[in-house]
Amino acid sequence: MTTKRMTRREALKNLGLLATGSFMLYTGVMTSSCSDENSKKRIVFYFTGSGNSLYVAKHLSAQPISIPQVLQDGPMEFEADEIGLVFPDYQGKAPNIVQEFAQKVKLKANYMFSVITYGLDNCLVTELWEEYAKQYGWHFDYINVVLTQDVYLDMFDQDQQRQLAAQKDEEGQIAKVVEDINSQRKWIYEITPEAHARGEQIMNMVSRFPIYPATSQNLLRIDRDLCVGCNTCVEVCPKKCFSYGNMGLTNMGDCARCYACANNCPQKAIKLAGREANPNARYRHPKITLQEIVRSNRQHG
Ligand SMILES: Cc1cc2nc3c(=O)[nH]c(=O)nc-3n(C[C@H](O)[C@H](O)[C@H](O)COP(=O)(O)O)c2cc1C
Ligand code: SF4
Ligand code: SF4
Repeated sequence: MTTKRMTRREALKNLGLLATGSFMLYTGVMTSSCSDENSKKRIVFYFTGSGNSLYVAKHLSAQPISIPQVLQDGPMEFEADEIGLVFPDYQGKAPNIVQEFAQKVKLKANYMFSVITYGLDNCLVTELWEEYAKQYGWHFDYINVVLTQDVYLDMFDQDQQRQLAAQKDEEGQIAKVVEDINSQRKWIYEITPEAHARGEQIMNMVSRFPIYPATSQNLLRIDRDLCVGCNTCVEVCPKKCFSYGNMGLTNMGDCARCYACANNCPQKAIKLAGREANPNARYRHPKITLQEIVRSNRQHG
């Protein structure tokens, strides 16, 4: 199957850059924008590559705050009645950018929660995250998971994955999580002894193929015959890996492995350098726009 070649103009229009020339960025908020004085002030931080975690975060806050934007130029101290983090499971751990956030940001809240999206097997992620966060003084009252589309392009064909959406019942899971958090439920996702044993086996296995450290130039390659220079990859990369130089578009540097670039390239011109399940199948959450991914991850003014 060939990919229909889009013009640069069409691509810029998709990005929303043609009309406005620039984007509003998150500029730094210390507390949530809760207008009802009786309501609790809640701040929700999120990281997303393909929109699943943002979709969950939007159910928990009208204005969730992007972790890459805080790391770029936000305040580093936040206080609220409730603070939550929503992010994807990457091999049983938080993405490197979320780990960096934990190392740098000070949070103070009476009720702290995390919701971790995952695609197949959450293994020990809740337990490992709870332990990891403790070293930065974060004590979570509530940690839960939401099963979504698995965007690990290395192993999963996104077209096949799409067929599983109905049985995953994402909306039902999110509704339960929202109900729990709104009632300040105290609960950490329970890992049964059997699941624990299986999780340890899986973690041992995947530790032989660590996802970090990862560099963009080693992980990805640009198909220059397909690329139309639309800038989408530059705009959606939370790690500033893409830029234009004498050689045209290049990608280099420390990579979050979020696949926002590959999943959002309108030409499907960004491929994994190694094996991948289906280089022509890409995914963004159906209810999240490209502009929302740009606003989440964009790393320049
Ligand atoms: C690098 C990487 C590693 C992943 N590892 C796991 C994993 O170990 N277990 C799992 O169930 N899902 C895994 N996933 C799937 C994601 O956790 C899942 O698709 C998530 O909802 C993506 O969130 P996002 O759309 O907000 O980026 C992985 C995805 C990526 C990109
Ligand atoms: S590689 Fe980047 S610049 Fe080229 S078409 Fe894809 S998103 Fe646009
Ligand atoms: S290069 Fe691609 S995969 Fe790596 S951080 Fe940037 S957008 Fe994510």
